[in-house]
Amino acid sequence: MKIFLDTANVGDIKTATDWGAIDGVTTNPSLVAKEGRDFKQMVLEICEIVNGPVSAEVISLEADKMVEEGKGLAAWHKNVIVKIPCTPDGLKATKILEGQGIKVNVTLVFSVNQVLLCAKAGASFISPFVGRLDDIGEDGMQMVAESVAVIKNYNFKSEIIVASVRSVEHAKKAALVGAHIATIPFKILSEMFKHPLTDKGIEKFLADWKGAEGKV
Ligand code: E4P
Repeated sequence: MKIFLDTANVGDIKTATDWGAIDGVTTNPSLVAKEGRDFKQMVLEICEIVNGPVSAEVISLEADKMVEEGKGLAAWHKNVIVKIPCTPDGLKATKILEGQGIKVNVTLVFSVNQVLLCAKAGASFISPFVGRLDDIGEDGMQMVAESVAVIKNYNFKSEIIVASVRSVEHAKKAALVGAHIATIPFKILSEMFKHPLTDKGIEKFLADWKGAEGKV
């Protein structure tokens, strides 16, 4: 499973890249607004750090405007993936952009039927939101597992990005159900390293080494 970082924070992206942990980045308007920086400059900086797909979202809602905006975003850098919401206009724009060789990540996806329609429109990436589904009492990861099955059944080119990841458990389950990608917030990615026995083991090894100093 590829791991993308779900953030617009350049510092966190640099740190995670240095860990060798990430294959791409997803941003959204909320994450971009949180940084309070110039959108284009920020995306270009991210593209220089990460050698992989970097999703930048359109804010238009009509297909023709999404296409225009998407073309503009894609022209910023070869790594930019145009992020488009899962609406009829969004999928119309997806079909046009993909037809012109511009890769699209369809976002705000909450059902398997939406996944099927995104795949048929030719989306390179499809982002089901597990956390937000769990929030309303649905089983987000079950929906992801079913989506992965649909993509495999019909050999669609689309890759499933598990989005709205809220826990290390989500990250693990995404890999277990065979998702192509999980986009993970920095905090969760950092937690994925942790195990108490790792810390305890280091402590013990160092203590033993100190005790044997001079003899080895
Ligand atoms: C995905 O591309 C979105 O940026 C993100 O995963 C949304 O997560 P949230 O539900 O925690 O806002």
